Amino acid sequence: MAKYIHKNVEGMESSLEPIKFSGKVSKLMQLEEKLKEGDFSSLEFDQSIFNFEPYEIILIGMPVYGGKPPTIFDGLLRKANGLEEKSIIPFATGRIYTKTMIPNMKQRIEERGAKVPFGKAVRNFFKIKTSKIDPLIEQIEEYIAE
Ligand SMILES: Cc1cc2nc3c(=O)[nH]c(=O)nc-3n(C[C@H](O)[C@H](O)[C@H](O)COP(=O)(O)O)c2cc1C
Repeated sequence: MAKYIHKNVEGMESSLEPIKFSGKVSKLMQLEEKLKEGDFSSLEFDQSIFNFEPYEIILIGMPVYGGKPPTIFDGLLRKANGLEEKSIIPFATGRIYTKTMIPNMKQRIEERGAKVPFGKAVRNFFKIKTSKIDPLIEQIEEYIAE
């Protein structure tokens, strides 16, 4: 979903930075606590993305875990700086139940002082239909043009 948005949104310069979190369950469970606290040192990605200052709009996407974002979201919010007054657009994929995901992310992002104009969770029981993502892309393009 992130790749599709990155590729298809027109009218803005964008960069995509994936944080990949995969491996054996036992190892992941040990990592979870660290990530929750904002310690991302064991994952390989460009940590400068936690500085939101240079960006106008930040899109944050996560899988739905138990109706909520995974604990990595706690760590991300803890670690992020410069997000006051920024526009943050949350998006998500889930297999079955996604209804509470965006309201949950929105509330927590707003608690950190950023704006959440809209967001979207898409269900992907088999494969994500890109037609489900297109309305979000249009919404982003309209928002940029405002
Ligand atoms: C621990 C765990 C909890 C999950 N909880 C939910 C959930 O509450 N609602 C939902 O729609 N999908 C849930 N999922 C499915 C993930 O959101 C889904 O795997 C993710 O979006 C990636 O899609 P994929 O598995 O098709 O690649 C869960 C997956 C895991 C591993």
